[in-house]
Parts: sequence; structure tokens; C-alpha cells
Amino acid sequence: GCMIERLILKDFKSHKDSDIKFYPSLNVFLGEVGAGKTSVLEAISFALFGKYAGNVAKNELIRRGTKNAEISLVFSTNLDKYKVNRKIYSKKRQEAKLLILEESDWKLVVEGATAVSRSIEDLLDVDSATFLAATYASQSEIKEMLETQPGKRRERLDKLLGIDTYEKIWNNLGDVRTVVLDELTEAQEKASGFAILERQINNLNVHLKKNKQELKMLKSFLREIEGRLQPAKQQLNTLQNLEQRLGQLETQIKGKNNEIKNFSATLKSLKEKIEKTKASEKAFKKNKRFIQLEKDLEQEKRLIETVLQQKSILETFVKRDNDTLKEILKRRGKVESQLEALSVLESRLKTLKEEKELLPELKEKQADLEKKLNELKEEAVKAFTKIENQKRKAERVTELGECPTCLQIVPEGHKEKIRRETGKTVIKLKTEYDVIQKARNHVQKLMDDLKKKIELAMVADKKYARASGQIKMLKGCREEMTEINVRIEGIKSSIGKNRKKINEINETPETLMKVTEKLHSVSAKAEVAKKAEKQMAAKKDLEAMFLQDKGILNDLQLQLKELKSSFKETAEKYDPNKHRKQVNAVEILQKNQAKTTEGIERLKKSIEEDVSRIKLDEKQLKEKGKAWKQVKKLKKESAILEILRKSLREVVQPVMRKNNVLKVSHVFQGFYQELSNDNIDYAAIDEEGNIDVTRNGEPSPVNSLSGGETTCAALALRLAICSSLTKNQLLLLDEPTIHLDELYRAKLREFLGSHNFEQLIVVTHDNTFDSLPAHIFKVEKRRGKSVVSSYGFEGGA
Ligand SMILES: Nc1ncnc2c1ncn2[C@@H]1O[C@H](COP(=O)(O)OP(=O)(O)O)[C@@H](O)[C@H]1O
Ligand SMILES: [Mg+2]
Repeated sequence: GCMIERLILKDFKSHKDSDIKFYPSLNVFLGEVGAGKTSVLEAISFALFGKYAGNVAKNELIRRGTKNAEISLVFSTNLDKYKVNRKIYSKKRQEAKLLILEESDWKLVVEGATAVSRSIEDLLDVDSATFLAATYASQSEIKEMLETQPGKRRERLDKLLGIDTYEKIWNNLGDVRTVVLDELTEAQEKASGFAILERQINNLNVHLKKNKQELKMLKSFLREIEGRLQPAKQQLNTLQNLEQRLGQLETQIKGKNNEIKNFSATLKSLKEKIEKTKASEKAFKKNKRFIQLEKDLEQEKRLIETVLQQKSILETFVKRDNDTLKEILKRRGKVESQLEALSVLESRLKTLKEEKELLPELKEKQADLEKKLNELKEEAVKAFTKIENQKRKAERVTELGECPTCLQIVPEGHKEKIRRETGKTVIKLKTEYDVIQKARNHVQKLMDDLKKKIELAMVADKKYARASGQIKMLKGCREEMTEINVRIEGIKSSIGKNRKKINEINETPETLMKVTEKLHSVSAKAEVAKKAEKQMAAKKDLEAMFLQDKGILNDLQLQLKELKSSFKETAEKYDPNKHRKQVNAVEILQKNQAKTTEGIERLKKSIEEDVSRIKLDEKQLKEKGKAWKQVKKLKKESAILEILRKSLREVVQPVMRKNNVLKVSHVFQGFYQELSNDNIDYAAIDEEGNIDVTRNGEPSPVNSLSGGETTCAALALRLAICSSLTKNQLLLLDEPTIHLDELYRAKLREFLGSHNFEQLIVVTHDNTFDSLPAHIFKVEKRRGKSVVSSYGFEGGA
């Protein structure tokens, strides 16, 4: 069963920090009203299934002034130990974890509030509603089990005692049976389908037989046709050959005729040509002489043409001579002007020569004058020095009183004398100096004049040199002039000669025209003569050709005769009417042959198809036995399932229920008798959930009992169910004494002390319970917080 082992609360309702270790069998929580006892039971319920006694606002679960509550519950099943942790937040979704103890480690099984609750339902093999209704009897709900409708009660009993398991099996078997029935209908359909298949095979066989007979007939018919077709074809072949031969002969005759026609035409034209040669002979004789005449005229014409060519050459000569003459005349004009310049130059050269010859005389004079000028310059310098000396002498005497010549001091009286003498000398010297200067100026003037004359003479000298050079250059033009005159004479006479010749030739074209005209008339006749000559030469060849062609023509005519006779022979043998009839006969036979062959093919195909289809169908038909066997098997299965279901519901389930409920009923009567103050003669619960009680010799329906009596009976039933449960022998009782007087309470104490349940957790404010042989916990409020303290095993100790 399920055993609660430990509960840790953090800020859950009034509990700030409670850690409670539970024990097997009886656990009693004692405490004042409002101490926080009920909260412990609520925490267990909430830890397991996330709820207790209906819906609670989660904010009511969190201790006032805190933000989240935590519950941790350790419990064990027959096999394993588990721990549930739930954390409740005021503004967040609940966190939940289920863990399992494996080798002293807690391992996570599943997470999330709903998933954890669902897993625990599976572990305890009961839904939360049933578990809570049977296990957790809250303060006000202890009587509930007794007060509910019998039907509801029966349902709850079924679930707790595991009777509902048979219902589940019954349902599952129903599902299986539906599947089997579906399969059965399918199998039946399939099996009955084989009858159609059999009929089909029969039909196919009939069809096949008919086809085979027809095939045989057609085959013999085809043989007959083929027997007749062979000779008919041979006959037709012979006729066709004859027809072909006739056609060939006809075309050959046509060809021969054509050949003969062509040859005759050729012969005719040859004959004509030969005829023509006679006329040619006459024509040749008549025009023979024109051939020579034409030749002579042609030669004459060629000669005249040569002369005409010469004329153009002469004309180019005249033109060239004229051009040369023009140039020479131009040159003569130039030479004439040069001759004039020469005579002018020669007359000028005389005067230039006279001027030039004065130059040496003038140069001599210039040298004399230069000498004289230099002498006068020296004299002037000397005179000037003398004057300067006198002047210095006077200054020296005046300033230093010293004689410049003797360097001795001169007395004052003497000074005056010297000054006077010096003055006189200076004046005398100055006059001398002026005379010299005048002479110098005169000579200088003469010199300048001379210079000009010399310059003129030098220019004349230069001009003379140039003029004589020019004369030298021009001297050749006199000879050139004579030469030019001779050349002019020569050219003029050449031009005259050529002109005369040209004039003579100018008369020739007239002659040329006459010759050309004559030639023209002669050429036509000469041409006729030449042609005639040629035709005469070809005559022999033509005659030979004519003879040869005539022989060929004879041969051809013979061949034609032969062809015509063989055509006549063949035509006698060939009958076109018979031929047409034979073609038709063969055609009809061939058509029949094709049709019959086609029919045979078609039949063969159809037979093949029938055979393969029959084969296939027969193969399918083999399944027939199997299908019917399957139908039988499924029928049997469904029958078995039906029997099973029926016996489960009608036999097993009622028997089990009866047994279990009988057991509960028995214990219930015992517990009730122990707990009640009255004489309980009979108390029972049946499989329909009905409760029967006989008290003090009288039957008393449960709804007529007093409050205390009802509580008493309800407790007895709860405890009876719990002790006879096969699954979870756990019971949580909240204030079971609430409607009981002291007598009943004493009986309950006695009862709890004397019976041994797997685990029973009782919450009560009745302090007298502390004498029970149980684990006692005291719950009290200290500074508004619930505190739980364990007192170990009381009473019994
Ligand atoms: N969210 C909460 N925070 C703090 N105290 C609470 C909260 N909810 C209920 N209580 C207090 O817990 C007490 C009720 O606890 P309960 O277990 O029912 O007591 P009892 O021992 O009578 O069974 C009351 O005193 C109530 O004020
Ligand atoms: Mg309470």
C-alpha cells in the first residue's frame, strides 16, 4: 500500500518551517483549534494530487507575508520510495517534480504539476477523486460515505476494491470482439466471391472449346485455298511474261522506225550537200581572178598608210624645230643687251683709270703733312712747359721765398723783381705758343682736305676693279652672238625642207580613198571564190559518208522486218481477256487467304488469353478452402470472446464483488458493534451499496440515525473499507470526534488503540487522545506560526 514517510513544509499556510516524520500504524496530531493541524493533512493531499477538498485559491496556500510556499512529501509504495516537490508561487505557475530513490540517489521521474499528479495516480492505481474520497475524510465529510446514494457508494466501493478492473477487461474484450467481427464479415465476403469465380471459369472453358473447333475449320480452309492458289499463280505468270514480251517488241519496233527515219533524213541532207558542190565549181571559175587582185590592192593600201605615218613624224619634227628656234631667239635678245652693257663699261673704265692713278701722289703728300704736324705738336708742348716753369718759379718765390733753380732763400726785394721778370717772360712765351698753335691748325686743315681726295681715289680704284671684272665676263657674248646666228640659219632651212615634204604628202589621202573603195568591191567577189573552193574540197568526204550510211539503213530495215514478224507470232499466243480473268481469280484467292490467316491469328490469341485467364482463376480458386476455413475460425473466436465477456460480467465480476463486499460488510458490522453504544444486532452493506442496520432488535434505516450515530456508523464503514482494501490501506481522519459525546469518544480511543492499521493519521483537538498507544505530534502556534513537535510513541511506552 501507500505509506506517508516525511512531510516538509515551508511557508505553507501557517507553517513556516515544519519537518514531520510519519510512522506506520497510528499517528495522532494534537492541538488547539486553529493551530495548523488540518493544514498538515491538506499538505499531504496537495502534494500527491495538487488539490484538496475542492478548489483553493493558491494565494491562500502561501503564508501571508511571503511569496512562495514549498511542500516536499516522501512516500513509499510496495516497491519503491518516491518524493514529490511542489513549489507554489503567487504570480507564477506551480513547479512540480516527482523523484524516485535509486541506490540512495533521488532521480527525476517527471516534471510539471499535471504530469506529476497523473504519474502518482498511476503509481497508486487509483484516480485522485476516489483516493481522496476514501482516504481523506475531512472534518465535515466523515459522514459523507454514509449519506451518499447507494449507487455512488457502490461505484466507489468497486474502484477501491478493484472490482472496476473487470469492467475495464469487459470493455477491452468488446473492442477485440468488434475487430474479430469486422474481419469475419470481410472473410465471408471474400469466400462467397469464389462462386462468381467458378461460374466465370466455366464460361471461359465453353468459349475456349468453341474457339478451338473454329480454328480447326479455318486451318483446313486455308490449306484448300493455298492448294488452288499455286497453279493459278503459275498460269498468271506465263500470261504476264507474254504481255511483257509484246510490250518490249512494240517499243523495239518503235525505236527501229525512229532510227530509220533519222538515217533517211541524214542521207537526204548529204545528197543535198553533194548537189551543192557542182554550183561551187562554177562560182570558183568565175571569181578566181579576184583573189589575186585583192592581194595587190591590199599591198598598195599598206604602202600609202606607211607614207601617212611618215607625215605625222615630219610634223613632230617641224614642231620641235620651231620650239628650238623660239628659245634661240630669246637667247639672242639677252646677248644683245649684254653687248650694249659691255660698250658702256669700256668707255667708263677710261675715266676710272685716270682717277685711280692719282692715289700714290696723294699718299706721299699726306705723309709729308703728318711729319710737319708732329713737329709742330712737339714745339707746342715745349713752349707750354716753359710757361708752366715760369709760373711755378713765381709761385715758389711768393710762397716760400725760395729760388726754384738754386733752392736758396730769396730776399723780399728780389722777389718782386723775379715776379716781374717772370711775368714778362710768360707773356713772350705765350705769343710764341699761339704762333705754333696757328700753324698746327693750318696744317691740320690741309690734312683733312687731302684725306677726302684720297678716299675718292680709293673708291675709283675699287670701281675700276669691278668694271674690269665685268668686262672680262661679258667678253664671250660677242662670239656667242655669231654662233647663234649660224644656228638660226640651219634650223630655218630644216623647217623649210620638212614643210615641203608634208605638203607633198597632203595630196595622198585622195589616192588612199580610191584604193580602199576598189578593194571593198573586189573582196566580196574574192570571198565567194574562196568559199566555193572550200566546198569543192569537201565533196569527196561527203560521197564516202553517203555510201556508208546507205549500207546501215539497209541493215536497219532488215532488223525491223524481223521484229515485226516475231511480234505477230507472240500476239497470236497472248489473249488479253484470259489474262484479265486470271488476275481476278488470283486476287480473290489471295484475299481469302489473308482473311483466313487473320482469323486464325485472332483465334489463337483469344485461345491464349482464355487459357491464361483460366489458369489465373483456377489459381485463385485454390484459395477458396482457405477462405472458408478463415470464416469458420473467426466465427469461433467471436463466439469465445462473447462467452468470455458474458462470464466476466455475469459470473466473475458479481462473484468478486459479492466476496469483497461481503468481507467489508462483515468487518463493518464488527467495527460498528465495537464503536456504537447501542446494541447493533445486524449491520451490512451489499453489492448494490445498500446499507442495512438492525439496532436494539429493530431495523433502523441509515438516514434515520442521529448525528453522533451517523458519525459512528460512517467511521465504522470507513475503517472497515480501509482495513479490507487490497491497494492503499491509508486513512487520514480530520477531527473524527466532532459529533461524538464522551462515551463515543472513549469507545473510539479504545478502538483505535486495539486495532492495527497499516497507516492511520488522525488529527484532533481532543487532548484525551494523547494516552493512545501511538506516535503523538503536538501542533501549536508560536508568534502566529505553526510549530509541530513529535513526542515519540506515547501511551504504550
Ligand atoms: N495563508 C495563510 N497564512 C498564514 N496563516 C494562515 C493562512 N491560511 C490559514 N492560516 C491560519 O491557519 C490556521 C488554520 O489552520 P488549520 O490547520 O485549519 O487549524 P486547525 O489546527 O484548527 O486544523 C488559522 O489560524 C489561519 O488563520
Ligand atoms: Mg482543523
